Amino acid sequence: MQKLLMHSQFGQISYEDAGTGPVLVLLHGFPFSSSIFQQLIAALSHTYRMIAPDFPGSGSTSVISSPEVASMELLAQLIKIILDQEKIEQCVLVGHSMGGYVAMAFAEAYPGRLKGLCLLHSTAYDDTEEKRQARVRSIQFIQTHGSALFLKQMIPGLFASHYVHTHPEQVNEIVKQSQRIPAEMLIAYYKAMMKRPDRSYVLRTLRTPVAFVFGKEDTSLLLDQALAQVSLPGDSTVHVLGQTGHMSMIEQPRLSRLLGYFMDYCETYLSGT
Ligand code: MLT
Repeated sequence: MQKLLMHSQFGQISYEDAGTGPVLVLLHGFPFSSSIFQQLIAALSHTYRMIAPDFPGSGSTSVISSPEVASMELLAQLIKIILDQEKIEQCVLVGHSMGGYVAMAFAEAYPGRLKGLCLLHSTAYDDTEEKRQARVRSIQFIQTHGSALFLKQMIPGLFASHYVHTHPEQVNEIVKQSQRIPAEMLIAYYKAMMKRPDRSYVLRTLRTPVAFVFGKEDTSLLLDQALAQVSLPGDSTVHVLGQTGHMSMIEQPRLSRLLGYFMDYCETYLSGT
């Protein structure tokens, strides 16, 4: 069910809260909302409690009054506010792409709140120069042509090409949903991603298991660069999914089994069984 929380700094915060059991928190990427995780929530909420927040400007979460203050650290605070409200001491945190950057900021600030961390098509490294330049061009495109055209052109490229051809309605629906996010927030998120620091050192310090999920056909996160981080954590699991782009939560029904396995692994990790 969707929950709403009023907060002095963020205004209204919306999040999905479904199921009971060990807590799995799902952080969406750019330019999506918690609805991107609908299939995963349906598949896993009979075993786990699934919490999926909407970042500012998406779902029913308010736009922040000064978008220029958006940062991965600020979004990590929003996750802590929800966990505190729900009296959740610890969780397994799954961050998709930009949600993974937020998960790294959360792991740095509140490591004791984690039982496990999964970077889903994401990285602990900062932007390459090439990526920064691409973001500058995207901001200029949004300012010149508007966000609707930008999203229509950008989102299909996040999926493996065969998926776009076989599932055009699903991809169009996701484009439609993402168009609710105001252009000012899209730009603010791009700027926030550009200024995020390299947090690969945080992976070295974590005392909890870390899982990485990558898509072989992801053109947004290049596999060769992303694989460099997987040996940094003390305990690391890597899944490279074939026939998958940047959107395995939509493209690959088997992602729910991988995350279910990771949840069990994290639950038993400290007891050593
Ligand atoms: C996302 O899916 O969140 C974006 O691709 C992140 C990014 O642009 O780095």
